[in-house]
Amino acid sequence: MQTEMIRLDPENPGVDGIEKAAGLIKAGELVVFPTETVYGLGASALDPGAVEKIYRAKGRPQDNPLIVHVSSLEMAGECTVQDLGRYSSILDVLWPGPVTLIFKKSEAIPACVTAGLDSVGLRFPSHPVALRLIEAAGVPIAAPSANISGRPSPTSEEHVIEDMNGRVGGIILAGDTIFGLESTIVDLSREKPTLLRPGPVDAERLGELLPGLEIPGFVRARDEYRGEALSPGLKYRHYSPEIPLILIEGSPGAVVSRAGILARRDKSVVLCSQELADYYPVHVKKVVLGSRNDLYAVASGLFKALRDRDNLNYTQIISEPFPETGIGLAIMNRLRKAAWRIDRV
Ligand code: TXA
Ligand code: MG
Repeated sequence: MQTEMIRLDPENPGVDGIEKAAGLIKAGELVVFPTETVYGLGASALDPGAVEKIYRAKGRPQDNPLIVHVSSLEMAGECTVQDLGRYSSILDVLWPGPVTLIFKKSEAIPACVTAGLDSVGLRFPSHPVALRLIEAAGVPIAAPSANISGRPSPTSEEHVIEDMNGRVGGIILAGDTIFGLESTIVDLSREKPTLLRPGPVDAERLGELLPGLEIPGFVRARDEYRGEALSPGLKYRHYSPEIPLILIEGSPGAVVSRAGILARRDKSVVLCSQELADYYPVHVKKVVLGSRNDLYAVASGLFKALRDRDNLNYTQIISEPFPETGIGLAIMNRLRKAAWRIDRV
């Protein structure tokens, strides 16, 4: 398949490229587009034939539901039977932004979008290109992250070209995404609000907005998925780089010495913090993700480091742990899910 490359300025996308991409969506084709979290692989959420193409292009299991992107509260309201007016104080703060909210779905959303579930994940992104695209298409857009299933989500132009060129109608190229990690997912379709995936809007802030917010154990991803029925996507391995990733968890000194020992046997890259970078042995290649005091910077470079061609020339990637506060909870969730092995020292 010939993929049309559409280059846009992320701040001022203009109309021509947006119209071209929206035309592809309206014609039932797939379009890769940027959001503030990661790039998405979009199709009209109202067109089952187009939605099927998403599963094929990604190689995604059919039982893993897609989230639906909207460009207004009104459009969101059409996708759910719940009264969004009841949530206006929360929605005013969280939308548009990097948060997906799960509600009971309406008839407008075909079963293939939600993999047969009676709920739907709704996301109102804040990225100007994503918003303009949904508005111009005039329909909600179903979109998972635009990676081949199992790989780290794409956060740059290079990543989407690598995974999706030749598989989709169009790719919008608009530079790096902002947060570099997928949206926070909160389930509001049940009695108690439940955090399903940590993300850029952190659990501390969400807890203030949603008193009684449940944070199930799998959010920390310390344990293997044990068949919790809340979110089908949780049972699959995610974000895996092409070479083994070993996550070391423990005190800084123990982490550094364990990394040194592992790197003696295998040619290793260590993903580390600025604070500890100078303590690793010299034979270790270091990729500094950022300061432990600036976890947004660490998050934005994480998937890039897991996909970087230079890093993949090594035998293994070793990662330091990061504090589980703020967006750090999402960083540790992704690292633990991506890891081939976790060494606790
Ligand atoms: O930031 C993001 O959320 C990106 C951008 C493109 O919007 N999208 C994204 O989609 O990360 P995806 O499909 O890679 O991850 C969505 C997750 C999956 O784990 C899926 O199982 C879960 O959301 N999910 C979707 N609908 C759900 C539902 N109705 N109930 C529970 N989990 C759901
Ligand atoms: Mg994904």
